[in-house]
Amino acid sequence: MNIPNHPKPYAARPMRGNRPGLALFTLLLGLGFLGHTADEPAKDKVPKLIAPAVSTGTGLLLEPALTLPEFTREKFEAAMASVGSEKIHKPWTNAVVPLPPHPRAEVKGLTQDEAKAYMMEAKRRFTAGEAVPLSDVGLISTQEDVIRKPMLNHIAAFSNEVARVYLLVQKTYSDNGWSYFSIVQDLTVSPPIDYFAEIRKTGPHFEATSCYKCHASGPLAIHPAREDLVLDAPLAAAIGQFIADQPRSVLFVPEDSPKPPTGEPLTLKFCARCHAEDGDRDRLFQVQSHPIRVLVDFGYMPPNRRLKPEEIAQLKAWLEKKP
Ligand code: HEC
Ligand code: HEC
Repeated sequence: MNIPNHPKPYAARPMRGNRPGLALFTLLLGLGFLGHTADEPAKDKVPKLIAPAVSTGTGLLLEPALTLPEFTREKFEAAMASVGSEKIHKPWTNAVVPLPPHPRAEVKGLTQDEAKAYMMEAKRRFTAGEAVPLSDVGLISTQEDVIRKPMLNHIAAFSNEVARVYLLVQKTYSDNGWSYFSIVQDLTVSPPIDYFAEIRKTGPHFEATSCYKCHASGPLAIHPAREDLVLDAPLAAAIGQFIADQPRSVLFVPEDSPKPPTGEPLTLKFCARCHAEDGDRDRLFQVQSHPIRVLVDFGYMPPNRRLKPEEIAQLKAWLEKKP
């Protein structure tokens, strides 16, 4: 199919009833009928479902594992739908919504304004019901010692040749309003650059300080806090796989939001064989101790085996070192 190259296809722009051509085009894009590329997970190729989160009792967690017995599936569904039920739990064929081609030919390095425009476009599509978000209670943020209540996430992924764009619409169970966060991965440079931002009323505001402690290696694979706290498990698996397969990237650090002090790198080889300067994932540092404690205790890291007791003891000793 021949896709017309709209002059500024990604700029935030409300859909108008009197422009049926554009409306139909945008609708088709939203439904994912156009522009599939090979690395986008399609529904007929859904990967293995994400293993349910169960604490393995390593003693690495700072607080007892939360199982949230009072947070029933009904409460979960109602809380998730409070964002607008027409925006979520969409039928889908492609978990990653294709975006039109980038308007600037042969781009080498997105400008900051272009990164922000992708973020706004992701938010616009979500608001218009043109995204395919997965809805879950996220394990890592829910278990966090300062939160300790359900953290509700709607996560949508978009892509074209030059960028991977993620939107996170988030609140805790007891908050009223939803907050918007986005990551834009610029694929036109090597290594790719990840722009992180909170999307405020005034527009996207780039951040590194508050994101780095969990997102040191870029977007994070999906981990629902409980098997029944996810609305579309195959979609979560497909988006999780897309994120896990991402290229190694570096974080864009804006002047007003520096990287926090990292502390010492984790060099234990049962982690550092993958988390290393030249590994699959970036090095891990003391500042990432929270996601490290959670992902290891819940048996997600290392990916293919459980740590032996003496390895857990080594990791615990490293985590307890003063930075
Ligand atoms: C306490 C840890 C933590 C911090 C701090 C954090 N995030 Fe996340 N973020 C997560 C987790 C965990 C997920 C995956 C959630 C899930 O499984 O549902 C996530 C997911 C996301 C996603 C969806 C794509 C992806 O990576 O899965 C975006 C976008 C995002 N975060 C943006 C941000 C931005 C921007 C900041 C800083 C302003 C930030 N996050 C800070 C833990 C964190
Ligand atoms: C065989 C390779 C491998 C080993 C060994 C491994 N990891 Fe990972 N790790 C990954 C991959 C791939 C990801 C990203 C995909 C995912 O999260 O499933 C990841 C993600 C993570 C993350 C989330 C931040 C990020 O980089 O995305 C943390 C934290 C983490 N691992 C901690 C550990 C710790 C601690 C160990 C050692 C106990 C460990 N890993 C061992 C491959 C590995």
